[in-house]
Amino acid sequence: MVDTMGMDPARIERLRSPDRLEYFHPDRIWEVLKPASHCTLVDIGAGVGFLTLPFAERFPQAKAYGCDILEGMVSLLHKDAVERDLKNVEVLLMAPNAIALPDDSADFIVMGQLHHELDAPEPLMVECKRLLKPAGVVAIIDWADADNGKSPPVGRRVPVAVMQGQLEDAGFSNIETHDVYDYHTFMTGKA
Ligand SMILES: C[S@@+](CC[C@H](N)C(=O)[O-])C[C@H]1O[C@@H](n2cnc3c(N)ncnc32)[C@H](O)[C@@H]1O
Repeated sequence: MVDTMGMDPARIERLRSPDRLEYFHPDRIWEVLKPASHCTLVDIGAGVGFLTLPFAERFPQAKAYGCDILEGMVSLLHKDAVERDLKNVEVLLMAPNAIALPDDSADFIVMGQLHHELDAPEPLMVECKRLLKPAGVVAIIDWADADNGKSPPVGRRVPVAVMQGQLEDAGFSNIETHDVYDYHTFMTGKA
């Protein structure tokens, strides 16, 4: 049976592990995206908030939506945001390819270590295009397609060309990869 609460303690511990900061520090993302202080960011597949919470802390005047398909994840993220008194965080339980926000809501969308979990990424890319303001930016950061000791095995990782094709098909332009992380592909596209 699918665990819709997503409360696997080992997984949650892995997502919260400070070790991740050594090779997947969120600050590297903001250095590339250069968000304006009052921007809106949507974090899809936010989990327990590895990207949402540091973004909200670093940009207190911005708005951060943390979205996930698992109730357990969004409730842990909400609890943590309240405990840290982050009033600029809103959590949304989403359907697999649909987020309950209007068109043109976001300046940035981030997806951290989500892409390889998607059965059908294409409809989610189209949803990203809908949610982004004109010239808004989607950032996909997922395990590199390489035998590097951390990425999942072949078949569970997404080649750069595949990711790029999905963004192009959804109507994104200016697609770039950023050589920032040792173990992750970091790709951006403009809406
Ligand atoms: C590996 S975790 C990464 C979480 C977070 N981005 C991080 O880096 O810590 C992937 C997350 O994506 C969520 N997820 C899986 N499929 C999804 C989908 N189709 N739409 C949104 N979230 C999804 C999972 O519930 C999980 O919380």
